[in-house]
Amino acid sequence: MRILVGISGGIAAYKAITLVRRLREAGCEVRVVLTEAAAQFVTPLSLQAVSGAPVRASLFDAEAEAGMDHIALARWADQVIIAPASADVLARMAQGMANDLLTTLILATTAPVTIAPAMNRQMWAHPAVQANLATLTARGVRVIGPASGSQACGEVGAGRMVEPEILAAQLLAPNPSVNWRGKRVVITAGGTQEPIDPVRFIANRSSGKMGFALAAAAQAAGATVTLICGPNALATPAGVARVNVQTALDMHAAMMDIAQIDVFIGAAAVADYRVAEPAVQKIKKTAAADTLTLTLVKNPDIIHSVAQRSPKPFVVGFAAETEQLRHYASQKRMAKGMDLICANQVGENLGFDQPDNAITAIWAGGEQVFERSDKAVLATQLVELMNKIIEQG
Ligand code: PMT
Repeated sequence: MRILVGISGGIAAYKAITLVRRLREAGCEVRVVLTEAAAQFVTPLSLQAVSGAPVRASLFDAEAEAGMDHIALARWADQVIIAPASADVLARMAQGMANDLLTTLILATTAPVTIAPAMNRQMWAHPAVQANLATLTARGVRVIGPASGSQACGEVGAGRMVEPEILAAQLLAPNPSVNWRGKRVVITAGGTQEPIDPVRFIANRSSGKMGFALAAAAQAAGATVTLICGPNALATPAGVARVNVQTALDMHAAMMDIAQIDVFIGAAAVADYRVAEPAVQKIKKTAAADTLTLTLVKNPDIIHSVAQRSPKPFVVGFAAETEQLRHYASQKRMAKGMDLICANQVGENLGFDQPDNAITAIWAGGEQVFERSDKAVLATQLVELMNKIIEQG
């Protein structure tokens, strides 16, 4: 496979050297294009050494253009990855600008484009960056990351470039072993919010990352994917239909609206209970009462309803447990009629709102442990496992 690696300016640019090495070790031909800012962080000479090919940095390089000109380079690539993708390059891509070699190549190529964003967490959260990202994903650009963790600027949060090993694995394994073309997959993701009054609600720590990663993996396997998700700030994976909901009742109704489902994956953290009668006006604190009692009623169980359908889809659930993982997960699998349950230990820095996860998958015929790794990688492995179980009948 011929991969064009674009590097934009950011401290994570040094990681691109490892990315190029991993891609070459996997047998890829790699060409590297740097932006002017990237050359401040990593040298063309290092990249030339690891890629084994001349590195391009300028659109106006007469000698290089006489060799493989920029249009030929755009045609040459089977895939393009921009890692790291800075806020600046995202903005220029979203605008369709062609003011340097990298952005010109992105416009000129017909190859799939993947970006691995990396920037300060506040920059990442900025509405301008998120709007650019939404534009790019709507155009089919694949986004991997960013990961969360400590940043070069000393802050902690989302904005780290996904590790090069994971990027290489994602790029090279769009799941050729699974062909879900023609399958209709519905996935729930994120947490629901149950209103208490017009300004308050009961929620949980689910970010939606696990469900979104599964949606991307199922879509990469060729499925037609609908993602029903609680409120979150994540970009919709390319090619996936998204239904935004707030409450468990909304999520249940959205699922009921979908007539045909071949595979259902319940990765959402759905509130088991809702407030029986949310107050119409804001509840006031009173001097007389030191306590406030809310009456909760049970929500419908979405996954249980799906499992009652005829014909029954292949039903996958998750179990978020803080103790006795296997025991509670197995009980839930049986009680809710799931074909497969993905049990994850949750708690401080585990499961919820993390870039990675560890899963024990349990089904009637066996069990498989997936060690802690990036949710995108896990999602691909889980889709492979689901496919294997479906094929075994
Ligand atoms: O979103 P992230 O931050 O990436 O975190 C991922 C995750 C930890 C939320 C995810 O991996 C996970 O474990 N999701 C399920 C969480 C949960 O609610 O588990 P549960 O044990 O309470 O529910 C069991 C199953 O029943 C789940 O598949 C759930 O979606 C489903 N359910 C629960 C209640 C309900 N009313 N309807 C349901 O369908």
